Amino acid sequence: MSELPSVCVIGAGSSGIAAAKALHERGIPFDCFEKSDRVGGNWVFGNRNGMSSAYRSLHINTSRERMEYSDYPMPKSYPDFPHHAQIAAYFDDYVDHFGFRDRICFETGVEHAEREPDGTWSIRLDTGETRRYDALVVANGHHWDPRWPEPAYPGTFDGAQMHAHFYVDNEPFKGRRVLVVGIGNSAMDIAVESSFVAERTFLSSRRGAHIIPKYLFGRPLDQIGVNSLTGALPWAFRKAIFTTFYRIGVGDMEHYGLPRPDHDLGDAHPTISADFLNRVAHGEIGYKPNVAELTGDRVRFEDGSVEQVDTIVWCTGYKVTFPFFDEGFVSAPDNDLPLFRRVFHPQVDNLFFAGLLQPLGAIMPLAEAQGQWIAAYLRGEYALPDPAALRQDIERERAKMFKRYVASKRHTMQVDFDNYLYALRRERRAGARRVREQGFRLPLPARAGARVAA
Ligand SMILES: Cc1cc2nc3c(=O)[nH]c(=O)nc-3n(C[C@H](O)[C@H](O)[C@H](O)COP(=O)(O)OP(=O)(O)OC[C@H]3O[C@@H](n4cnc5c(N)ncnc54)[C@H](O)[C@@H]3O)c2cc1C
Ligand SMILES: NC(=O)c1ccc[n+]([C@@H]2O[C@H](COP(=O)([O-])OP(=O)(O)OC[C@H]3O[C@@H](n4cnc5c(N)ncnc54)[C@H](OP(=O)(O)O)[C@@H]3O)[C@@H](O)[C@H]2O)c1
Repeated sequence: MSELPSVCVIGAGSSGIAAAKALHERGIPFDCFEKSDRVGGNWVFGNRNGMSSAYRSLHINTSRERMEYSDYPMPKSYPDFPHHAQIAAYFDDYVDHFGFRDRICFETGVEHAEREPDGTWSIRLDTGETRRYDALVVANGHHWDPRWPEPAYPGTFDGAQMHAHFYVDNEPFKGRRVLVVGIGNSAMDIAVESSFVAERTFLSSRRGAHIIPKYLFGRPLDQIGVNSLTGALPWAFRKAIFTTFYRIGVGDMEHYGLPRPDHDLGDAHPTISADFLNRVAHGEIGYKPNVAELTGDRVRFEDGSVEQVDTIVWCTGYKVTFPFFDEGFVSAPDNDLPLFRRVFHPQVDNLFFAGLLQPLGAIMPLAEAQGQWIAAYLRGEYALPDPAALRQDIERERAKMFKRYVASKRHTMQVDFDNYLYALRRERRAGARRVREQGFRLPLPARAGARVAA
């Protein structure tokens, strides 16, 4: 029996497979449970788990080189912003390349995860089986549980309504009058697609956004000025440069007939679109302020204007939920779950999260670094700061984030891609020093026994 703790990983999306690969590489026994019949989660269009929010035309909006894992580049034949089918194939290849497909239990959902009095995890599967593990890595994704407007807008609407999660393609919008609500990336893509077939497309939002193009100066914008030292530069410095580039390359939103954002560039999750501003400039998308009231087949907006509308698409974001935990145990009310550097639960020493963050940049390399960090911890190569310092760090990071970002349920776990990776490398070095000072010990002894599938 291994002396290393046994681990359960929930989910084999891009975050779960990154964590699983790190455990596999470091010889840590684990099982990864995946509801679906394949890996890739959100990127599997029509995923039989019913959880994917991908639509037929979806392309990534973080460029290929920012999204790929550090040791497994995407094929050079891929475009800068590949289609979802290419991204799903890439995740599939990743698992085979590193040889851990047999550690993933497909079509096996985790129904309930409970911490026993001895600290081990009791994992009840939808097969009826219950297994025990020493540690739990949660990678169940955070863009699958639709958030409808809360509270609902006053009045009633007689037409069709859907959430962006259920959007497949623009076919049902042909010849209709469509209202898209929200100004995040779902709203961008869906409004643009609607504008090619609908009789009329409106986009309504309760605040403005700096719409960011995919390219600037002929390069994917998220690759400009990036190198291994970028993360050492303070955000304020990078923001000043980025804002100057943006002013030169894009200009003020008011010039496109859109509201002036109530925040600086980079102080909201990026809204990226190569096409939205064009469609507004062509008059094919009409901008509207926030909805004031729904009145049968009409919608009244806060500027007093009224439009007849057939279909409303609520692009109002997602809820962070963990259906397998008892609500009073671990939950994220209003999407807020404080964690040490978005990985370690401050009260539960054998509970970790992978991919539960919203970067300015792609999630995958960050989930990869998180997986490596968890593996180092489980092998005793990294020691956490003492509990008081850990709590202070969480509070400091949260205070910084809430001060910077627009107050919204979508801004509860924001990080800057480069700064996050840089800080994590430093923290890992600090944790290795603590190990040397304290003396080596495994933080979690193997108590659950050899319950990992052979
Ligand atoms: C439309 C859209 C476009 C996006 N575009 C980008 C982009 O361009 N770049 C970017 O970085 N991010 C993007 N994102 C963010 C997205 O969250 C990530 O791309 C990525 O999907 C995160 O991977 P994940 O593994 O954390 O979650 P998911 O991809 O959601 O995977 C979670 C996995 O866990 C499994 N699972 C869940 N619960 C259980 C359970 N109880 N038992 C067993 N298995 C379970 C699911 O079946 C699924 O396979 C986008 C999101 C959306 C909605
Ligand atoms: N092509 C792509 O790669 C792509 C496409 C789609 C989505 N994504 C990603 O998927 C994730 C989810 O994106 P998303 O656009 O679905 O959600 P999101 O980023 O959470 O944006 C939700 C939008 O809805 C607004 N909103 C929320 N509640 C509202 C209400 N009650 N009334 C009016 N407006 C409301 C928010 O405004 P406030 O800011 O005021 O709260 C925000 O504009 C993001 O990470 C995004 O980058 C990527």
